[in-house]
Amino acid sequence: MANQILSIISVLLFPFIIFTEVEGAKKSNRVYDSNTATKLFVFGDSYVDTGNFVHSESYKIPNGITFPGSPAGRFCDGRIITDYIASFLKIESPTPYRLRNSTNMQHGINFAYGGTGIFNTSIDGPNMTVQIDSFEKLIQQNIYTKMDLHSSIALVNAGGNDYTNALKTGRFFDLPAFTESLVEQISVNLNRIHSLGINKVAVGLLQPIGCLPALTLISFRTDCIGLLNSISKDHNKKLLEAIQKLNNQTDNSVFITLDLYNSFLSTIETMQKKRAENSTLMNPLQPCCDVKNLGDSCGSVDDKGEKKYSLCENPKVSFFWDNVHPSQNGWSAVYRMLQPSLAQLT
Ligand SMILES: *[C@@H]1O[C@H](CO)[C@@H](O)[C@H](O)[C@H]1NC(C)=O
Ligand SMILES: *[C@@H]1O[C@H](CO)[C@@H](O)[C@H](O)[C@H]1NC(C)=O
Ligand SMILES: *[C@@H]1O[C@H](CO)[C@@H](O)[C@H](O)[C@H]1NC(C)=O
Ligand SMILES: *[C@@H]1O[C@H](CO)[C@@H](O)[C@H](O)[C@H]1NC(C)=O
Ligand SMILES: *[C@@H]1O[C@H](CO)[C@@H](O)[C@H](O)[C@H]1NC(C)=O
Repeated sequence: MANQILSIISVLLFPFIIFTEVEGAKKSNRVYDSNTATKLFVFGDSYVDTGNFVHSESYKIPNGITFPGSPAGRFCDGRIITDYIASFLKIESPTPYRLRNSTNMQHGINFAYGGTGIFNTSIDGPNMTVQIDSFEKLIQQNIYTKMDLHSSIALVNAGGNDYTNALKTGRFFDLPAFTESLVEQISVNLNRIHSLGINKVAVGLLQPIGCLPALTLISFRTDCIGLLNSISKDHNKKLLEAIQKLNNQTDNSVFITLDLYNSFLSTIETMQKKRAENSTLMNPLQPCCDVKNLGDSCGSVDDKGEKKYSLCENPKVSFFWDNVHPSQNGWSAVYRMLQPSLAQLT
């Protein structure tokens, strides 16, 4: 049973197909004033990517219909957690790395890339190590001063794609060992971000993967799959221990965690309860942008331009936008639940 379910994951998740090389933006040597506002540097996957994966559905209709109004590189109808955290910090959402130029780096840079992980995944995009390499290069070019970095915040979110990729390649047979090596590498990455000069790092805990619409299909989207959620729970337990260790090695609490697991779960449960009393409300496990075939993505069209997906009436009442990603409404609810954690950043 477990193996059956796990092997379904590999077929269902992250059907990112095409990728070509990201064009680098032009070099720049601008040093930003150290007295300007906080900067945000973002590392990770599609949950935090705001525009680095050009050759993906994130740049296709209907992604972006709620915000900014047309597709602009988010795997969502609108704002994602990165945008909400930037607004919490009272800055603009940082420019995606591929769009950087000499005039738009003052709020930080978003290095996150949809489909990627801590380790290599099936996507030929930059893993987190490579994303941090890019950050280090910008520092070497003196784009940011020590003072800039000292008052900056990093947002780190990855892991989901590592699990789907591991399950695909069969490494899940030793899941505990895989989790251990993954968490070990995350620790190395977090330490490195801190040693480059950033003193506050917010780390996303793994979402309840058993609630993703691609997987709840096997329960006809009535319930999250507990067996799969236990993978997330175990990962998070080990990650929290690792972060505690890291914080113990630094004077102040450099690393804080954003509990995507419980904020997803409790938002979904609240929506399910409300729906039990009012059946016209939307099922939170139903994606707003649903595909007919699981190999398709929200934004696929056939040769004749015929859509391979259907849209719900109102994305603003959904929790999930597509088979994997929350809608703006979903992220906004999650953001509200993360407020107490985010308060530790300021
Ligand atoms: C830099 O990018 C911004 C958008 O982020 C754009 O408005 C501006 O024209 C660009 N500047 C240069 C010099 O390319
Ligand atoms: C990340 O990618 C780089 C370059 O593709 C590779 O050399 C490195 O081994 C990868 N790191 C991890 C932790 O998978
Ligand atoms: C990651 O992929 C790159 C090529 O994209 C390869 O050079 C590297 O060896 C891989 N690293 C690991 C640890 O698999
Ligand atoms: C924190 O560090 C101290 C010594 O530096 C050690 O005794 C303690 O066990 C550590 N706690 C954790 C949670 O790692
Ligand atoms: C049920 O939800 C709909 C929105 O979908 C709302 O218009 C209606 O007033 C609700 N009914 C009750 C009895 O709360």
